[in-house]
Amino acid sequence: MDLQCLVIGDLNTDIIVSNLNGYPELGKEILARNFYVNVGGSGGIFAAVLSGLGVKTSIISKIGSDFFGNFLIAEMKKYGVNTGNLIVENGKETGATVSLSYGNDKSQISKLDLIKSLKTDEISFDNFTNLRHVHFSSYYMMDNLKKGYVDTVKKIKSKFSNVTFSLDTNNDPEDKWGQEVYNVIKNIDILFLNKKEVLKISGENDIEAAIEKLSKFVDKVIVKMGREGYLAKINKKYYKGECINKLNKNFKDSTGAGDNFDAGFIYGYINNFGIEKSLKIANVVGEKSVEYFGGPGPEEKFHQLKELIK
Ligand SMILES: Nc1ncnc2c1ncn2[C@@H]1O[C@H](COP(=O)(O)OP(=O)(O)OP(=O)(O)O)[C@@H](O)[C@H]1O
Ligand SMILES: [Mg+2]
Repeated sequence: MDLQCLVIGDLNTDIIVSNLNGYPELGKEILARNFYVNVGGSGGIFAAVLSGLGVKTSIISKIGSDFFGNFLIAEMKKYGVNTGNLIVENGKETGATVSLSYGNDKSQISKLDLIKSLKTDEISFDNFTNLRHVHFSSYYMMDNLKKGYVDTVKKIKSKFSNVTFSLDTNNDPEDKWGQEVYNVIKNIDILFLNKKEVLKISGENDIEAAIEKLSKFVDKVIVKMGREGYLAKINKKYYKGECINKLNKNFKDSTGAGDNFDAGFIYGYINNFGIEKSLKIANVVGEKSVEYFGGPGPEEKFHQLKELIK
């Protein structure tokens, strides 16, 4: 298999309910006007978007041989993702998140045991003849991979020359922000974080100081700032970008906006468009994603993106 990007991380079903007439309360029923079932998980959304943009992408993650597992395989194929490296476990339940979407914020309930159980020695690279880039998603959630990331990076580097690596840690559900993540950061090329994550991991109080600290360990630090765009330090130079459409009237749902942003950047990076252009594409892909429910979005979104990033 000749791949441009391999994703290692989380893939689950997202069940999104929106236009709710209240907040959940024990013993009561609330009503939703809309209900969507989508590809979810930071790794799943990233892989689907990158593939939808035209990059040959595959993903290693664990799913069950159940209804949601089959749904995810079928959906990922629609976006063009190679699903041949998914690990399917019989009798186990595919991860799922129920997301209650309220305007600019959301409340989520997740069952992700199977995703968390992925171990380093279950990851094999024998299928691949070539590999340009590897993206790791949701570091703090991948309980059994944490200790093995550095070895995995070394193994991949010894097999494929010029391969590059990115990591999006996402949130730490346990709110511990363990400093072992620095061992991984030191061994990769691109670190994607949001405003909260960069402060928590660096232990700093402002974003520039946080970026300064982290850029001592990794060449490219990119911080996503929601509707304010991004701030990045890449190869010693600062880049700042605003959203073109800050008060987006078409805003629907921010699920996976960050993963869309990451995929936009890696699309530009893999295609050698240069840092400035890759960041602009990332911002456009992130902004566009909030106009649609769910992470990866419909085919129409990709038609629009192709026009916008020409
Ligand atoms: N309300 C918004 N309006 C317009 N664009 C937005 C909005 N929120 C996010 N974006 C776009 O999405 C990008 C990523 O957003 P965000 O900071 O929410 O990342 P994140 O926290 O990693 O997201 P995720 O919830 O997917 O992990 C931003 O840089 C911006 O381009
Ligand atoms: Mg994120």
